Amino acid sequence: MATCLRYPGKVVIVTGGTKGIGLAIVREFVHQGANVVFCSRATGAEKGQEVQRELQGSGCPGDAFYQVCDVRNESDIKRLIRVTVERYGCLDCLVNNAGTGYTEQIDDVSAQDFLNLIKTNTVSGLLASKYALPYLWETKGNIITIGNIVGVLGKENGNTVENSRRGSSVLSPPQGKGSASSPLFSKKSNPPSFDGP
Ligand SMILES: NC(=O)c1ccc[n+]([C@@H]2O[C@H](COP(=O)([O-])OP(=O)(O)OC[C@H]3O[C@@H](n4cnc5c(N)ncnc54)[C@H](OP(=O)(O)O)[C@@H]3O)[C@@H](O)[C@H]2O)c1
Repeated sequence: MATCLRYPGKVVIVTGGTKGIGLAIVREFVHQGANVVFCSRATGAEKGQEVQRELQGSGCPGDAFYQVCDVRNESDIKRLIRVTVERYGCLDCLVNNAGTGYTEQIDDVSAQDFLNLIKTNTVSGLLASKYALPYLWETKGNIITIGNIVGVLGKENGNTVENSRRGSSVLSPPQGKGSASSPLFSKKSNPPSFDGP
């Protein structure tokens, strides 16, 4: 029986792909035939290598390759993209997923804490998109940014993390806008809150 893969041979980067939503995205792309480079901070390297081994040994049609990359560091992001293109020859899709939670309310948060949060949840996506773009133009590829529905709708007692994800909306044009005349499709996904794997 002929198999019909959705992403055969496509090259994808998923930031923060060792847990939760990012890991689910990595698995799905690899099962659908894509070659995926995914990352976490160095503290998650063991888990990342475990996921790489599992997917490479699973007989899936795609490939998975783990890299340490702290998305708060511009040089790490540049290296992630360079390694991906050196290994697979091009880039078709960037998924800006890496993010972190923070439960302090506005009256407890320091400016430095909030700046750190913005760096992880917002600036990282800007930089990854910036350095991926030259390759994405070549393939007419995609950028997917994982946002947060609370950042769009608001929430009573919403906390600082939700505000930081709201900032990521500057990275992607609203659906249906900005993409009509562009070969590059940029989309923001705003999942609701849940506990991931
Ligand atoms: N879960 C929800 O309810 C929910 C709802 C809406 C939106 N979101 C958004 O969806 C995204 C994923 O959420 P999740 O719940 O799946 O999170 P998660 O389970 O905590 O996983 C986050 C991933 O990002 C990585 N990461 C964190 N900081 C990083 C950094 N500085 N550099 C590189 N990698 C980093 C983590 O690995 P290490 O920690 O090992 O580095 C991990 O792989 C986030 O952007 C979040 O804001 C989540």
